[in-house]
Amino acid sequence: MLKNSALNYGTVARTLHWLTAALFLVAYIAVYYRQWFTVPKTSQNWTALQLHLSVGISIAVLVVLRIIWNRMNIQPHPEPGTRLAQLGAKAGHLALYVILIAMPVTGYLGTGVATDWFFLFEVPKFSDTWLFEALVQGGLGMSFEEFEVPVDFIHKQGGATIVWILILGHAGAALYHHYVLQDRTLVKMTTGRE
Ligand code: HEM
Ligand code: HEM
Repeated sequence: MLKNSALNYGTVARTLHWLTAALFLVAYIAVYYRQWFTVPKTSQNWTALQLHLSVGISIAVLVVLRIIWNRMNIQPHPEPGTRLAQLGAKAGHLALYVILIAMPVTGYLGTGVATDWFFLFEVPKFSDTWLFEALVQGGLGMSFEEFEVPVDFIHKQGGATIVWILILGHAGAALYHHYVLQDRTLVKMTTGRE
């Protein structure tokens, strides 16, 4: 079934979820490969950066589609649990949506190079857009160098700490539900088996 049911996430929601999860992994591998294993100004260094940017922008597109799709769907019923646990799960999902939006946005706003999207076409860098001139130069009266400091801080510090802690917590919770509580939380997002 393409759409969600009371029991399961549908094929579209599942595909968007797992594709995004895989792209997160690639975004992390690309950026840390660049930082730890490549020499600045080499083609490997540039390719790894462009892969990070391309994947990050793709995540932004997918999250927009996902929010639209969510609004057209019901959410599967939560598994039995205390009110607090259900509230915790809701808050966790909301926090994941916040990072799904904040990471690509801060990444894009704070990057001083254009994205060569999977080496297929170019996405102009933010400082080359009319929005930058209108909002940052005109509105805030800041240069790109001044503007990128706080934005990069959020992207890099957030990416290096909060984001992966949240994701590991989320994946850990899913596995806890599956193996310890033995409920359908993970099944709803995978096989849908009853
Ligand atoms: C969900 C999407 C994204 C995630 C999870 C993510 C995560 C990260 C992480 C973990 C770092 C390294 C932080 C550190 O230095 O310890 C980083 C760096 C960076 N990100 Fe992202 N990012 C995403 C999207 C983007 C996008 C869309 C762009 C730009 C179009 C971007 C541009 C950059 C740049 C330029 C760096 C610095 C690279 C370096 O210093 O080697 N990111 N990002
Ligand atoms: C191995 C990694 C992952 C596992 C095992 C996993 C597992 C799950 C499961 C079982 C659900 C359904 C939970 C429920 O309905 O109560 C879910 C939902 C969700 N997951 Fe993950 N997930 C993983 C990675 C990620 C990543 C990387 C993100 C995004 C950064 C993410 C974001 C979400 C969101 C926002 C939901 C709420 C449902 C929706 O709107 O799609 N997950 N995940």
